[in-house]
Amino acid sequence: MLERKPMIAGNWKMNLSYTQAENLIKSIAEGIEGLEGVDILVAPPFTHLAHVRQAMGNSRIFLAGQNMHWEMSGAYTGEISGRMLQEATCTHVILGHSERRIIFKETSEMIDLKVRAASFLSLIPILCVGETLEQREAGQTFAVIKEQLDLSFQNFRADELMRPSTILAYEPVWAIGTGRTATPDQAEEVHRFIRQWIENNFNTGTAALVRILYGGSVKPENIAELMSQPDIDGALVGGASLKGDSFVQIARYKEG
Ligand code: PGA
Repeated sequence: MLERKPMIAGNWKMNLSYTQAENLIKSIAEGIEGLEGVDILVAPPFTHLAHVRQAMGNSRIFLAGQNMHWEMSGAYTGEISGRMLQEATCTHVILGHSERRIIFKETSEMIDLKVRAASFLSLIPILCVGETLEQREAGQTFAVIKEQLDLSFQNFRADELMRPSTILAYEPVWAIGTGRTATPDQAEEVHRFIRQWIENNFNTGTAALVRILYGGSVKPENIAELMSQPDIDGALVGGASLKGDSFVQIARYKEG
């Protein structure tokens, strides 16, 4: 069986000055030197992308946008297209983060358009899904995740196959930035559910290859336990990705 290579991804959100971003990427690049068998990715603010790429030197760190518009260009004030991300050397794009869904009212239908545009450009989506605390307490977790997946791939599914390089992220909203992490068992059962959804809607081969990241208060202290679960293939890290030492410790989780 082909192995899924773990990925540790840092979502910097709307944080860091130019200089702070430069210092952070340099300390990450240095800290992961010699690290094998783990893909490292960061998603800086749009305006910092080119600068971060330059500052990382020859380090093999993937760059992602935190969002994109589904059109290639046009009168969309304040938006960024997938092509622009690629010009800024991004290979990946985070789509459907709960902060986009909740604060900016992005719907799964919009995310579906974005997934299709990313696929057209061969930009790899990191598609996020996750339930709120209310939904979890009402026993709706699986229904919510299923609906988000169904709608986010609705049109895409009609005429395309999911690529094995696609990345999904399970980010329970109640665990983001709260210090409250899902237990490894809680995360694993949703990851398994997501993998089964891929199998049901695409095929077994793709389901076995797609990486599913966990996000929500990941830190150096809890990463190893999360990564020991069979369907957790990496982490999407917010707060703890803003400090070089904690992000590098997370990336080096195998070393204990
Ligand atoms: P957090 O954020 O690690 O600060 O909880 C995760 C995310 O929003 O991707």
